[in-house]
Amino acid sequence: MYLVPGTISMITIKTSEEIEKMKRGGKILSEVLSRVAKACVAGASTEELDRIAKEGIESAGGKPSFLHYQISPEDPQYPSTVCISINDEVVHGLATPNRIIKDGDLVGLDIGMWFPVKDPSDPTGGADGLATDMAATVCVGNVSSEARKLSEATRESLKRGLSVVKDGVWVHEIGKTIEEYLKPMKYGIIKDLCGHGVGHAVHEDPQIPNYHERRARPVKLKAGMCIAIEPMIALGSWRVKQKDDGWTFVTADGSLAAHWEVTIAVTKNGFEMITPWPDISVISTGA
Ligand code: MF3
Ligand code: CO
Repeated sequence: MYLVPGTISMITIKTSEEIEKMKRGGKILSEVLSRVAKACVAGASTEELDRIAKEGIESAGGKPSFLHYQISPEDPQYPSTVCISINDEVVHGLATPNRIIKDGDLVGLDIGMWFPVKDPSDPTGGADGLATDMAATVCVGNVSSEARKLSEATRESLKRGLSVVKDGVWVHEIGKTIEEYLKPMKYGIIKDLCGHGVGHAVHEDPQIPNYHERRARPVKLKAGMCIAIEPMIALGSWRVKQKDDGWTFVTADGSLAAHWEVTIAVTKNGFEMITPWPDISVISTGA
């Protein structure tokens, strides 16, 4: 989501029943993401991948949470179930029939779901539905070693960020840890976009920057907070621009970008995974 330092409005603490529901949803979401990732091979159309995602979610009793999502009422609705961001696209790439995956592509797949859904026509997923959110980057076929290293470092930075999570820790420790791990590699940490609280909405507070943002209002993690951490990392500069489609973010210098994301619940001594890591075999396809 878009980083706006200094704002905090809605931080929610989930009950253990809500966390159990989110874990059931998260497991389904991770399985659907693995399925989409396995189908992400040279020649696949992004529209086809989006169909696999939508059918997977709906047949499991969920509802896509990104489809028709609007950042604010005057903005365009997001048109797909899964954000597919290829090479220099950082996040929020669109799934359309004329976009075909090629050998050597670095493909970010970002997916969100409401679960369980009582009323499929309700845009918030129905009274009982809770949102989960996750992303993985897939190396398609013969990917350059620098692309592969970028994706691996991005995933590892997420793991490092997770390692400091527990009740009572400042939110900025997450970004600080991610930044310190990535610093020697000289990658660009995207600053305009960040992780976020999640559950009753696709995006809740607090915002979770992937670097030490000193302008952020200090927030402490609390047991029962559910958050999505999502480092977005570029091979070159951290600067991004948005395409005319109103969604897709690309790196300003055209360099490759990678994105990994999980949803977790903060606990007294650490965290619980809400979206399990996707099947590791999907990280490279068709090689
Ligand atoms: N994980 C992405 C984010 O938090 C998902 C965006 S959903 C979209 O920004 F609908 F805005 F694309
Ligand atoms: Co997210």
